[in-house]
Amino acid sequence: MSLVKMKELLEDAEKRGYAVGAFSVANMEMILGAVRAAEELSSPMILQVAQVRLPYSPLDIIIPMMVAAAKSCKVPVAVHLDHGTDLSCLEKALELGATSVMIDASSKPIEENIRITKEVRALADKYGATVEAEVGTLGKSEDGKGAGKAIYSDPDEVERLRSETGVDAIALSIGNAHGFYKEAPKLDFSVLKAARDKTNGLPLVLHGGSGISDDDFRRCIAGGIRKINVATATFSAVEEAAGAYCAGGGRDYFSLSAAMAEGAYKNIRRHMLVFGSDKKA
Ligand code: 13P
Repeated sequence: MSLVKMKELLEDAEKRGYAVGAFSVANMEMILGAVRAAEELSSPMILQVAQVRLPYSPLDIIIPMMVAAAKSCKVPVAVHLDHGTDLSCLEKALELGATSVMIDASSKPIEENIRITKEVRALADKYGATVEAEVGTLGKSEDGKGAGKAIYSDPDEVERLRSETGVDAIALSIGNAHGFYKEAPKLDFSVLKAARDKTNGLPLVLHGGSGISDDDFRRCIAGGIRKINVATATFSAVEEAAGAYCAGGGRDYFSLSAAMAEGAYKNIRRHMLVFGSDKKA
């Protein structure tokens, strides 16, 4: 029985210098693969779904499924709504048992971002939940679409958002992007360092984990990143596993389901090892 608050996981990661993986899932197979990896490696983890994915994985089905998986998991698991933009959606996720939410008001001017994040802080406090917010704009949105210009986080704004809202974690834009990268990303570690220096040990978050090199992951963790989001790489691993099963002539639904869970398991396990979250549960 270990459904936990994301704040607890991030505090332990901060104390022991690792990052917790936040793995996006869309169905039961992906949840089962994630739980298998977490239990096998004795790793804490965050299971999450982004608001933009809810047309495929309805909130009132996917959140209770993640919560049930977390409760029966042998290691600590937080359940998170990723990139929430509507307060009604955030509230519904909390009512359904999510232990944390991300409010993404990063496209707004900082004053507006602060105002909205404060509202979410007050809402989450009613549920004892953890809040993540974001400063700066990633090149692509969380469904990997769009190719807008990235705006790197301003470290002074990161600190303003922290001190004026009491948020528990802040996501940065340092050259990372959602979806696979066309060219190897060039992360600006000076932005991470400046944000870290100003924010008094606040757990920082790296989105767009798919396609970032292991070395860059390790440098980010050494620089204060405590939560790393991975979505596309897991979806892709599941697609490949399902494709390989069918290409091999397989036509049994339950074997297909097992292949999908295995695809998620392998990708999530690999990332947990790089993030150093193994043996931390
Ligand atoms: P990727 O799809 O690039 O792994 O990004 C995931 C993410 O940041 C979700 O918020």
